[in-house]
Amino acid sequence: MSSPFKSVPIRSYEITPRETYLSRRDFIKAAGLIAGSAALAACAPSVAGGDESVSAPSGSGKTDELGDAVNTYQEITNYNNFYEFSTGKEEVAPLSKGFTAAPWTVEVYGMVNKPQTFGIEDLLKLFPQEERIYRLRCVEAWSMVIPWNGFPLASLLAMVEPTSSAKYVRFETVYRPEEMKGQKSPFYPWPYQEGLRLDEAMNDLTLLATGLYGETVLPQNGAPIRLVVPWKYGFKSIKSIVKIELTDKEPATLWSTVAPNEYGFHANVNPEVDHPRWSQASERRIGELSRRPTLMFNGYGEQVADLYAGMDLRLHY
Ligand code: MTE
Repeated sequence: MSSPFKSVPIRSYEITPRETYLSRRDFIKAAGLIAGSAALAACAPSVAGGDESVSAPSGSGKTDELGDAVNTYQEITNYNNFYEFSTGKEEVAPLSKGFTAAPWTVEVYGMVNKPQTFGIEDLLKLFPQEERIYRLRCVEAWSMVIPWNGFPLASLLAMVEPTSSAKYVRFETVYRPEEMKGQKSPFYPWPYQEGLRLDEAMNDLTLLATGLYGETVLPQNGAPIRLVVPWKYGFKSIKSIVKIELTDKEPATLWSTVAPNEYGFHANVNPEVDHPRWSQASERRIGELSRRPTLMFNGYGEQVADLYAGMDLRLHY
């Protein structure tokens, strides 16, 4: 298959200078305040019309730091990518109902001084759960704003003490084809795997989420524990994690194994680098009618751009 991505001439391209995207961010912030209030108003009738289940937590007017309203619980828990259950976003919630998320352990091992296997209940006791309202930008060009509860991955890594040789972190989803029928599909190299550089993993934005909207995270969103890396495309945010390995080699990931020319290891949100089959310049925020511009690093450049100083982001997509 010929790939438009490969036909893009490679120029000597540096990341957007800090001042440029900071000012862009201020602009978007102002625009977002207007769009955000319009979206809230537009949502109100459907909520009042009984679109949400009675027990679902309400949005309570929360916004992200750019002023954009959080998506509804209904949206976040019914429009999901979780190929272990289905490739149909609206089928994941019904098919994952009853998934066994307890008992659950997460093994942290590899290049660490203190390897340890944690029960999910230990993780909840050891690390205070914070609320983090993050934008999630899927590589398919839709997005949501999600109020997660969880704790920084850095806190867990500090506890196991990575050795000086550790350079990467590899994550693995549980492998249970009897419960997750999608894992019977021979088209994907199960179990789902993802990876981060150690410095990315240690960034304060990188979260292990155990809840959303103050409720225990549901199976469709990656129960009982999933990664959230808000400046990268959503496929990096691996669900239902059972293994975390510290290593000195860049880990293979499910998506970079299946289609290396489409899904790179870094996968930083970048409106200037198109997917071979579609533009990444704009996105559809679930619940909104018109598209909105995609932000460099999904709007988190201030916190993460330094991680990529001097890197050609056109090559490291
Ligand atoms: N993790 C696993 N194990 N399997 C998956 O199919 N899909 C990814 C990511 N994590 C996926 C996964 C993709 S493509 C996205 S966009 C997000 O989960 C979606 O998260 P959400 O359904 O909670 O919004």
